[in-house]
Amino acid sequence: MEKTFLMIKPDGVQRNLIGEIVTRFEKKGFQLSGAKLMNISNEKAEKHYGEHKDKPFFGELVDFITSGPVFAMVWEGENVIATARQMMGKTNPQEAAPGTIRGDYGLTVGKNIIHGSDSPESAEREIQLFFENDEILSFTKDNQKWIY
Ligand code: PPS
Repeated sequence: MEKTFLMIKPDGVQRNLIGEIVTRFEKKGFQLSGAKLMNISNEKAEKHYGEHKDKPFFGELVDFITSGPVFAMVWEGENVIATARQMMGKTNPQEAAPGTIRGDYGLTVGKNIIHGSDSPESAEREIQLFFENDEILSFTKDNQKWIY
């Protein structure tokens, strides 16, 4: 099953949006395979955003993502990479449609709440950068068994 890397950025953590965001992906039908609250080192941030190193906002982006804890996640499900990006909404929250995470909770591109991998290649790279193999779990859910 396809996997993606999603990360609630420091603004989302500070604004108590972890539960709300996790709920959206769970309700959609995706399965959480790994998650952790963590601080990102400068080195990891620069690696993660390496493709943007020549952009004028690179320094601001690295400073922001290292400014406080993030909630890093691996999610699994059919077409999860593209669908998660749709659920996040456009990068600039002012252009993001209502009903999307950024459309509902964001105001500026510098603090746009969530990051999501944009391709299978970046998903694999980002999952490896943020997670050890034994932190990613694949398991079958059986709700009835845990209720009765
Ligand atoms: S680009 O230029 O189209 O490749 O960039 P984009 O994919 O839109 O954005 C890449 C990441 O940079 C963040 N970003 C910014 N941060 C601060 N200031 C400005 N002006 C800015 N513009 C873009 C954007 O949120 C992307 O971060 P992630 O974590 O990938 O969403």
